[in-house]
Amino acid sequence: MILNIPMIVCSCRAVSDRELRRAAEAGRPLAEVLRVTGAGTDCGCCRASVERIVADRRLAAEERPHEG
Ligand code: FES
Repeated sequence: MILNIPMIVCSCRAVSDRELRRAAEAGRPLAEVLRVTGAGTDCGCCRASVERIVADRRLAAEERPHEG
């Protein structure tokens, strides 16, 4: 069973995976996701995880058929 519970990715700024996916979903580049959410802007320990979430979102968007 998969639970749909947000997970904190950036503990310094209390930013969840859900917030990061939402920010990346708008097609924002990594730098913009970091700026908008505040994730990765303190100790930087979460940067790799944030980068992976943004990359996964971008890949999912590319694979999604165009709607129109
Ligand atoms: S855990 Fe994200 S900046 Fe520290």
